[in-house]
Amino acid sequence: MQSRGVPLEEGKERSNQSKGSPLRPLRLLVLFLALCVVFSVISIYTVKHFGIQSVVTTVSSTFQPCYDEEPGGLDKWTRPPLRLIHNMSDKELLWRASFVPRIKAYPFARVPKIAFMFLTKGPLPLAPLWERFLKGHEKLYSIYIHSLPSFQPQFPPSSVFYNRQIPSKISEWGRMSMCDAERRLLANALLDISNEWFILLSESCIPLYKFSFVYHYIMKSKHSFVGAFDDPGPYGRGRYNENMAPLVNITKWRKGSQWFEVNRKLAVNIVEDTTFYPKFEQYCRPACYVDEHYFPTMLTIQAGNVLANRSITWVDWSRGGAHPATFGRADITQEFFNRVRGGHRCLYNNRNSSVCVLFARKFAPSALEPLLHMVDSKVLDF
Ligand SMILES: *[C@@H]1O[C@H](CO)[C@@H](O)[C@H](O)[C@H]1NC(C)=O
Ligand SMILES: *[C@@H]1O[C@H](CO)[C@@H](O)[C@H](O)[C@H]1NC(C)=O
Ligand SMILES: *[C@@H]1O[C@H](CO)[C@@H](O)[C@H](O)[C@H]1NC(C)=O
Ligand SMILES: *[C@@H]1O[C@H](CO)[C@@H](O)[C@H](O)[C@H]1NC(C)=O
Repeated sequence: MQSRGVPLEEGKERSNQSKGSPLRPLRLLVLFLALCVVFSVISIYTVKHFGIQSVVTTVSSTFQPCYDEEPGGLDKWTRPPLRLIHNMSDKELLWRASFVPRIKAYPFARVPKIAFMFLTKGPLPLAPLWERFLKGHEKLYSIYIHSLPSFQPQFPPSSVFYNRQIPSKISEWGRMSMCDAERRLLANALLDISNEWFILLSESCIPLYKFSFVYHYIMKSKHSFVGAFDDPGPYGRGRYNENMAPLVNITKWRKGSQWFEVNRKLAVNIVEDTTFYPKFEQYCRPACYVDEHYFPTMLTIQAGNVLANRSITWVDWSRGGAHPATFGRADITQEFFNRVRGGHRCLYNNRNSSVCVLFARKFAPSALEPLLHMVDSKVLDF
């Protein structure tokens, strides 16, 4: 909503100014010149009578402490921000996050990290499972949480989730505010130059393999795992609006799961976008669910050849209806994991593979205890 309103307002302001009286700037100029003359006279007088030395010393000693706080080296560009809480507006944040170095090789030893971005309502009931999964890999990941703004997290300082909440806003399923939240997560994660892969997760997601396996699968992949397919039916092409042409041709219209994995380059594509955003905001409203179409379609147009066109987060739609199945205590068995991890065929780096998903959803809080037992009994080999 904001970005549609703002450019109009700015345009209005600008045209008002140019229609204003031409005498006003002239008057300002005269005033400015007068001030300059007065100031010059004063400074000449000062230098003559007190000597310039004292003036310069006073000025430099006043400013010195500021420079001391800033490290002179490359450090300030390469270390992650000390705190995730900042007061940048979305507009400021997206702009800042879109900075990209032009030289490809990093002049320091960069260890690429996975950014796990949790889009949640509030608490993370499966947090203990994630703690087990992440333990011992501290240099290889970062965590970001977007929740309802009112939510006060209770993680202890020893938790990997402690102080990992980003400034958040209310977001609604199927609306642009949901994509805004995802862009906010990406933008905050981009501020850490070491983050190379960005995975969107929810509070009901779990990992299916141990960390080193997940890390290598993603690192070695030539493609980013964004679900994107051309659905000819009413819930696919049927949601296309012709007002999006010619920017979005119906042949490039895609649908896909919201739960994506993108590399740094695609993450920048998403945060820097000002072209597709207004079209989708205006012409993809319920029953067009924008979080299922905006990123898959935009990335297909901008970088289709680097997309795997499949999500790495498994979800079970087989029970039918508007919502996927949720698994609780009784569902968690070894057979369940054999079924979820096996039984798929997909392309991985243009080769047939049977490992197609690394994460799964949706799991109820009641699944936590049996899930931890699965870890203890090495069904989940964290
Ligand atoms: C953020 O804080 C700084 C000072 O701490 C202030 O100058 C700036 O205007 C604030 N920005 C916003 C968007 O509130
Ligand atoms: C969409 O692309 C096809 C060819 O790829 C072209 O024939 C058609 O005119 C395009 N439609 C619009 C609305 O631009
Ligand atoms: C994904 O789809 C795009 C076209 O939409 C295609 O160019 C690309 O090759 C596909 N990716 C894979 C891995 O097949
Ligand atoms: C993958 O397997 C299918 C049969 O299941 C085969 O037709 C296809 O050629 C294989 N593709 C590659 C790239 O090996």
